[in-house]
Amino acid sequence: MKDYDQLFQSALIDVEKSNSEESLETVRVKYFGKNGLVNNELKNISKLTNDQKKQVGKKLNIFKLTFHDAIKKKKEIVNTKLIDEKLKSEFIDFTLPTRDAKELDAKIHPISFTIKEIYQILSNMGLNYEEGPDIENDFNNFTALNIPENHPARQMHDTFYILSNKDKNVLRTHTSPVQIRTLQKKKLPLKIFAPGRTYRCDSDITHTPMFHQVEGLVVDKNITFGNLKWFLEEFCKTFFENEKLKLRFRPSYFPFTEPSAEVDINCKIDSGKIHLGNGEQWMEILGCGMVHPNVFKLSGIQEDNISGFAFGMGIERLAMLKYGMPDLRNFFDSDINWLHHYGFSFLDY
Ligand code: PHE
Repeated sequence: MKDYDQLFQSALIDVEKSNSEESLETVRVKYFGKNGLVNNELKNISKLTNDQKKQVGKKLNIFKLTFHDAIKKKKEIVNTKLIDEKLKSEFIDFTLPTRDAKELDAKIHPISFTIKEIYQILSNMGLNYEEGPDIENDFNNFTALNIPENHPARQMHDTFYILSNKDKNVLRTHTSPVQIRTLQKKKLPLKIFAPGRTYRCDSDITHTPMFHQVEGLVVDKNITFGNLKWFLEEFCKTFFENEKLKLRFRPSYFPFTEPSAEVDINCKIDSGKIHLGNGEQWMEILGCGMVHPNVFKLSGIQEDNISGFAFGMGIERLAMLKYGMPDLRNFFDSDINWLHHYGFSFLDY
């Protein structure tokens, strides 16, 4: 009777040497496939005596179990190794330092940052964000704001006119037309703020042809100048992060508010540096007033028992005062060194 041990051993060695599912399958076919070595051996079994058949049968059965068991185990090993390798190749070490810090040192422009700050404070104070287009029609920018054609106030605005046959359009000279756009929606009460770009044909140390303003408008029953005063005091103290800041309301004139005021904050100017909130000097920061009845009328508001306050401030001016920036024109120079110095990290939000 043939000794099968050598065959069995070589089969197990073949299994051991395999290192993929495919090669294991090849080994299985090599021994137990239709024309496999084990099957070929079985063809010779008929020549054996019954006793021998029994013995060979038993041996082969045990071998079959051992062989398939070995294949199964090896398959598991191969697969675990595969997963390990995949994990290794895809491994990311989160504890490594980030790329060169300078590369990631992109800065947020002070205007964007200041708008975001104002956005946050005014939202917290209950105002809703509104916006209007930079190209505005003459009616919203002037007429509806109680500045009729030929009114001398139009000359104060150094307007950029947009020439077109049909419409009389301008680059908005202030954010106040957003007051009109919101009033026209007639959903009272109204509590809105509207930051954005504004344009005037003017350029010197303290003026740039494009600049930013934020408008505020609160309309409801029984809104008083006292509400306006409280609101602006809270806003300024929060924005400048100074509880001691004093505000001075100076009588002024805007066609769309009555009464109107300009607001100054107290400061001390010491060898060219401005210290806000202490000192007896004053720095103008915004214009405001109670909404003029004509503005309600021209926006189609019928109710006569409502009142409102409005204010408008220059964002560059607020940023310069808060962050000690000396020159307005730098805002629009696209100077990367300036941005690195005065810009903000996204973490500052
Ligand atoms: N629109 C005015 C300006 O540009 C500011 C302002 C807004 C004044 C709202 C009063 C009320 O100067």
